[in-house]
Amino acid sequence: MIVCDKKEGLFTLHTRNTTYQMKADSYRVLLHTYYGARIVGGDLSYLVRYTDRGFSPNPSEVGHNRDYSLDTLPQEYSTCGVGDFRIPSIDLELEDGSRIADLRYTGFEVKKGKYSLEGLPAFFGDEEQAETLVLFLEDTAAQVGVELYYGVFEQCDLITRAARITNRGGHPVRLRRATSLCLDFQRADLDLITFDGGHVIERCPTRTPLRQGVQSVGSVRGTSSHQHNPFVVLCDHDANEDYGLCYGAAMVYSGNFEAAVERSQFESSRLVMGINPYHFCWPLNPGESFTTPEAALVCSTCGLARMTHQFHRAIREHLIRDPYHGARRPVLINNWEATEFHFDADMLVSIAKEAASLGAELFVMDDGWFTNRDSDLSGLGDWVVDQNKLPGGLEALVPRINDLGLRFGMWIEPEMVSEDSQLYRDHPDWALRAPGRAQTRGRSQLVLDFSRKEVRDHIYQVLKEVLSSANVTYIKWDMNRSLSDVWSAGLPANRQGEVFHRYMLGVYELLERFRRDYPDLLIEGCSGGGGRFDTGMLYYTPQIWCSDNTDAIDRLRIQYGTSFCYPASTMGAHVSAVPNGQTGRCVSMETRGIVAMSGTFGYEMDLNETTPEEKEIIVRQIEKYKAYYDLIQRGDYYRLTDPFEDGPYTAWAHVSEDRREALVSLVTGTMHAAPPFRVLRIKGLDPSFCYRVNDGEEVYPGDVLMQAGYPLPMLKDDYQPFQLHLKAE
Ligand code: DGJ
Repeated sequence: MIVCDKKEGLFTLHTRNTTYQMKADSYRVLLHTYYGARIVGGDLSYLVRYTDRGFSPNPSEVGHNRDYSLDTLPQEYSTCGVGDFRIPSIDLELEDGSRIADLRYTGFEVKKGKYSLEGLPAFFGDEEQAETLVLFLEDTAAQVGVELYYGVFEQCDLITRAARITNRGGHPVRLRRATSLCLDFQRADLDLITFDGGHVIERCPTRTPLRQGVQSVGSVRGTSSHQHNPFVVLCDHDANEDYGLCYGAAMVYSGNFEAAVERSQFESSRLVMGINPYHFCWPLNPGESFTTPEAALVCSTCGLARMTHQFHRAIREHLIRDPYHGARRPVLINNWEATEFHFDADMLVSIAKEAASLGAELFVMDDGWFTNRDSDLSGLGDWVVDQNKLPGGLEALVPRINDLGLRFGMWIEPEMVSEDSQLYRDHPDWALRAPGRAQTRGRSQLVLDFSRKEVRDHIYQVLKEVLSSANVTYIKWDMNRSLSDVWSAGLPANRQGEVFHRYMLGVYELLERFRRDYPDLLIEGCSGGGGRFDTGMLYYTPQIWCSDNTDAIDRLRIQYGTSFCYPASTMGAHVSAVPNGQTGRCVSMETRGIVAMSGTFGYEMDLNETTPEEKEIIVRQIEKYKAYYDLIQRGDYYRLTDPFEDGPYTAWAHVSEDRREALVSLVTGTMHAAPPFRVLRIKGLDPSFCYRVNDGEEVYPGDVLMQAGYPLPMLKDDYQPFQLHLKAE
């Protein structure tokens, strides 16, 4: 609910459990007055304190009132060059060379339903589900207007934000920074949690108390990156899964981002999130506007689990679009780890046949299906089926797969080109590359300049021919390197600061074109696993390959970190062969199964090479996943232990929204001799229900299972799995 008091300049956003408030003061400076537990309302600006602070300057209109300084006030969208020395939200360069943005409130607008952002991913909600507030700010000297957008999703406790900057004057200006979100707190006793790592070790949580100065994570790789996820949490020092105030913030963007928190000299703190200012410069001619990507906020007053549940709900209900919003995802078999580039049609069909007999639903042909692609040195860009590997093309292969009762899907990497390709020979200038410089290779490939429409049009046409040649129902959209040599032949020298963002807009535009022309196509995002795992991609690709690391034990950590923001229905997770390709570790088929089952489930191995006993296990796993699909993909996810702590096991649970059903999973760590008997305390159950365990004789009240716990059997082996299904009577 949005409550506006025009006379007082007071704007209050209420969600089910939270309240967010801003106030335009008598100088029309927009102050941030409150974000936290839901309160009745009233004017919270009494919390804003004024005092003379040395070296904190005062705007001219306050005269000699030294108590009033932008340097000390909590601001809604921080200014630049006028006395607030903390992180700015905007950096404007005017024609005269000045770098000042002094924003004052001028008005507001409220609309039913959620705003959308042209060309950009964004949460959506109809008139029943969401409301929009727009606040208008202006720098009168620069004649630049800023519209601050707020989307309020009451049920999910979600508040989205974006900003639109317009040059209303007669001279060009240059935008060097424009954040999506600025959030000021009049306290600094907070912890920052970021989700960090690298290729094959993505999204490991790092938690540190705020220290004076700026702490930041971000990416300048052209993708959101494996190194830092565009999702951060600020929380009470003592916040845990079940207790404490937590603020989660996610960028709905897949390119360069920055999330920076500053703890000031006065023990206040500020979070800003937006496009990374690195190599960003956007000229605005008179009348032109720039719209930032969206950022999404969830505040939980009772710990990290609630924050997670609200993000999961918001992503499932208001970000993943039809037809995959709510739809079941197929159990897939992917041939990559089984064959890499070396396969032919018969090999693929034999893998598919075995998978179909065990219960899989979709066969995915990975990299290596197109001409001149026997290694990663060549072929990208020439999207023509290799007739040597697949005689008769997809027209011949796909019916063979469909006849087995499987749907067919395939891998593509549209943004890339190999130097050894016809496309590159014909259009060397279509790759990002600075004039007069040798190119930097990544996985021996170059990046196509997706900021250029003609490049995207060409790729779309060639891929369209392939997709239209057969019954293709799924694509895995891969992206296997970071952007370097970022220079576009399509833009003049003074507009090269647009290329990183225009590249991302180009990727979104092409994804949207596929969605429009192939509305039933399921697109799985991928960037060497989880290098572009963000809410921006999820708007187009309802699931994303979580990591190239398929080792079940490493996956416990990767999926744990990922779960803080992203629901199971978005996390591609497959059972692969042992010894594992990344770690050399051998764990049982059961263990690999229960870990992969907590995502969008599949197999990535040659199932012909499994033993009859393993095949039986696989049949049961797939049956179980199908039976518990709704519970896993739509239930509330509870992290019961932290796999980064050296505990005896990692445990998690999926609990249905009505709390009548739960699937509890556990994998032991490294065990030692003479282990004690252990008890697992479960979360999320209804204390007043009685739950039957695994359809057997055991029945326990919910409060007993949550407070006293479930007595685990003696688990002696390393990496041993254990699962409990609870059903309310
Ligand atoms: C990287 C992906 O993450 C893998 O799953 C696989 O598709 C390879 N690329 C193929 O080149």
